[in-house]
Amino acid sequence: MAQFRIQGQQPLQGEIAVTGAKNAALKFIAASLMCDAPVTLTNVPNIEDVRRMLHLVQSLGAGVQHNVEAHTVVIDPTTVNTQTISAELAKTIRPSIMFVGPLIARYGTARIGYPGGCVIGRRPIDLYLKGYERFGAQITSSDESFVFTAPTPRAMEFMFPLISVVATETFMITATRIPGTTVLKNCAMEPEVVALAEFLNSCGARITGAGTPTISIEGVTALSGGTVAMIPDRLEAGTFVILGALTRSNIRVTKCIPEHLENILDHLREMGVPFTVGPDWIETQPYSHTLKAINIKTHEYPGFVTDLQAPFTVLLTQAAGTSLVHETIFEGRMFYTDLLNRMGANIILCDPHRAIVEGPTALSGRKLDSPDIRAGIAMVLAGLAARGETIIGNIEQVDRGYESIDARLRSLGAAIIRE
Ligand code: UD1
Repeated sequence: MAQFRIQGQQPLQGEIAVTGAKNAALKFIAASLMCDAPVTLTNVPNIEDVRRMLHLVQSLGAGVQHNVEAHTVVIDPTTVNTQTISAELAKTIRPSIMFVGPLIARYGTARIGYPGGCVIGRRPIDLYLKGYERFGAQITSSDESFVFTAPTPRAMEFMFPLISVVATETFMITATRIPGTTVLKNCAMEPEVVALAEFLNSCGARITGAGTPTISIEGVTALSGGTVAMIPDRLEAGTFVILGALTRSNIRVTKCIPEHLENILDHLREMGVPFTVGPDWIETQPYSHTLKAINIKTHEYPGFVTDLQAPFTVLLTQAAGTSLVHETIFEGRMFYTDLLNRMGANIILCDPHRAIVEGPTALSGRKLDSPDIRAGIAMVLAGLAARGETIIGNIEQVDRGYESIDARLRSLGAAIIRE
């Protein structure tokens, strides 16, 4: 099992370009199944989750050409020859549940093993089952898999009882080829949802309202292929900006869309972090004052994004005073606070959703395991800011979402090696 060895407190400086968004690429791979001709995805990050999703689409019979160097993927959906995703493959990545939508819309049937993903909270799939049922699927289940039968899928109206990003995207994709008008309410409004709708519309879909709580989809009978670039990864961009703030460094984060990080940037400003913003970059500045403690509360877009909660909490350990971190979306996304305490932080986990951070506290290097993708990158940040050596195990979790993160951080001056 690979690990990162980090010597903390090295001076960092320079430019770091953001990759294409993981949370866009995964959905575009699933959406390509709706098309009648090959789809070319560009600016695709070379990360484990993308490889897993490509493996899945390939297992359905789709042609996949992955040019890792060029960051492009061509998916040919015309050769799909099975509607079954084995339990073994489904478990490798949670958005595998997305494939059911295209399969029932186009072939009237799908079989899938129980999906996997990060170990954060219970992460149920009840919403997907409800939605697929409303699209006309009959669902039967065994110990390991679900079978969906929908000989004549139908358009539907669906009010999300809670906001779900992947379920919004899945139903939007599915409805593009189901006759009639599907109306989805209380939808996720993440930039990746909007990018997906724009792409599908460019292929001939009729989607309106993406980026608002209500999305309407008028089913069409065919969708062309096309080419689409993945939008920049706002989570990666935010991570690097937080790194600059945490290490008091001059780091220019390029190839990003600052507007997608407005909420995070506002919170950084409130803490007293100095930075400047350009059309497609954000640059943190060195500073010598003490940061101010603030409260954060995660929320669906455009609120404070849950995926940056852990990295931001690392920063809060350096702020003077008491900060409350309130994770409203996931259970189990805060257990990393115990790891930060082992590094010297003073964090009280009040319950699975709330933690109180007392700062500032000096951090010192420790040997830790990465709990999940976002807490994993938070540990990397903590290690870079800590005195001494930090060793982080289970870095496969970090690799799931961050391309060649060690090499890219080294280019800023970080002392981090993979071994
Ligand atoms: C997506 C993102 C993830 C981000 C999350 C919240 C991808 C690939 N992942 O995950 O990075 O952290 O949005 O912004 O885009 N829920 C149910 N039943 C369901 C589905 C979800 O109760 O059937 C609950 C979840 O337990 C959670 C909430 O809905 O409490 C939101 O989850 P959701 O938005 O679905 O997360 P993902 O789409 O899986």
